[in-house]
Amino acid sequence: MNRVRIFDTTLRDGEQAPGFSMTEEGKLKMARTLAALNVDVIEAGFAAASPGDFRAVQAISREIEGPVICSLARAHRGDIQASADALAPAARKRIHIFLGTSPIHRDFKLHMSREQVIASIHESVAFARQFTDDVEFSAEDAIRTERDFLVEALSVAAAAGAGTLNVPDTVGYTTPEEIYDLFRYLGDHVVRDPDVVFSAHCHDDLGMAVANSLAAVRGGARQVECAVNGIGERAGNCALEDVVMALKTRSDTFGVSTRVDTTKIMAASRMLAQVTNVSPPRNKAIVGANAFAHEAGIHQHGVLQNRETYEIMKPEDIGLATDGIVLGKHSGRHALASRAEELGYLLEGEKLDRAFAAFKDVADEVGIVDTARLAALLASLDGDSDEKLWTLSRVEIRAPATPNAWPVARVELEHGDRGRLTDLASAPGALDAAFQAVSQIMGLPARVDGLDMQYVAAEEGDEGGQGANVLVEIRIAVEGEVFAGRARARDILPCCVSAYIDAAGNAAAVRRVRAAMPAARAAA
Ligand code: KIV
Ligand code: ZN
Repeated sequence: MNRVRIFDTTLRDGEQAPGFSMTEEGKLKMARTLAALNVDVIEAGFAAASPGDFRAVQAISREIEGPVICSLARAHRGDIQASADALAPAARKRIHIFLGTSPIHRDFKLHMSREQVIASIHESVAFARQFTDDVEFSAEDAIRTERDFLVEALSVAAAAGAGTLNVPDTVGYTTPEEIYDLFRYLGDHVVRDPDVVFSAHCHDDLGMAVANSLAAVRGGARQVECAVNGIGERAGNCALEDVVMALKTRSDTFGVSTRVDTTKIMAASRMLAQVTNVSPPRNKAIVGANAFAHEAGIHQHGVLQNRETYEIMKPEDIGLATDGIVLGKHSGRHALASRAEELGYLLEGEKLDRAFAAFKDVADEVGIVDTARLAALLASLDGDSDEKLWTLSRVEIRAPATPNAWPVARVELEHGDRGRLTDLASAPGALDAAFQAVSQIMGLPARVDGLDMQYVAAEEGDEGGQGANVLVEIRIAVEGEVFAGRARARDILPCCVSAYIDAAGNAAAVRRVRAAMPAARAAA
């Protein structure tokens, strides 16, 4: 079989890691996204772990069609019964039983002899088969298990009716060479029917979970257990997006395929970030903000001539709508001219020199020059006064007069043409009140989607200098479209409000550019 099954454990191994807990509604949303991604198996939870986990597995079993829905269970009748009950409404269901097999797990955690472990595997797998034909057995800490005993444990599981034999690197200890060799060995020695599937489940403690999973595939694994954005116990699990895109991009090496619709990868990553409030790092492979971004001038020039100079995958393959060009202080003229052309400005000769110099000044100040800021800059070079930016003059919060009342924000903004404008707003929180007052002044209703803040401590001995600063990055949604803004200031409140103004200004500028685009293009 040249197809590798993708077993997603975002909702179980991923969710059980600190900082990634999800509500029942959040789990259901994520399960819908995983079904759209077309994973083969969704491990929806550990039904016996808590009533909340039970309900989540049950709700997912009721609603989700397509993938097999799976619940984890210890090798106990009670856990298996709970899994069977929670999975009862599922069209396709799997019970996943695990039991430690390594000496350290047997001696210190389970206090069981080899014989007792073998008997428990047989008994629990056979019991689970009364509820479903699809039973998976995991030899927890398989990597640190004696090979002869691992072969015995997996052979017993297969004899009792397990159709999937999972070989977890529970502690993230193995290496690609070692796990490749182990899977070859198991393939040669485990007694089983030909349709039994070996599975890899790798943790990332030494940063090798993806490499180890791929090596396991080369060694014969035909199921990979993984999680979106690589979340999971400790350093996480093998990242779904990495392993799927590696198998696709390097099919010349691996010679296998998955059924995953890779164009839904970005949506799955974003949905997970939304339900857990944790975004992957900027430099995360495949789904990080920098994964398809090119800021350096030499790279941009290459990509504009032929994307394959610096791209081994297309952003659209993972459902990302971008040309990858990020304009910043390292960008070159080609990128600026190309982006300006998209906005309807033809930059050549002396006009390009002037625009490039002004662009570098702005980039030095703000880092990334997004479309809106570029539009404002190009318009101001053309003498278009409509593009003047808003800035914050003052923000004050009046505390609620009574316990049930809301705080009131008074905000004063300055605009290049319109002068100073003030407005008041109240909301359950002071920040939201200030954001609302800004929206009223700018005439742009928006909803805050996310806000990241960083405290930059003062240099030691810098008494008369800059002092400590706050950096804020904000994302706001305007009619379903997300715009970013950023600011740096001494205090939190003015910094958050300035970042909001920046994002709202970006949204307003993009709208103006879009409205004027056909005329501008024609003029160019
Ligand atoms: O890491 C592990 O061993 C597990 C098992 C329960 C499969 O998550
Ligand atoms: Zn695990």
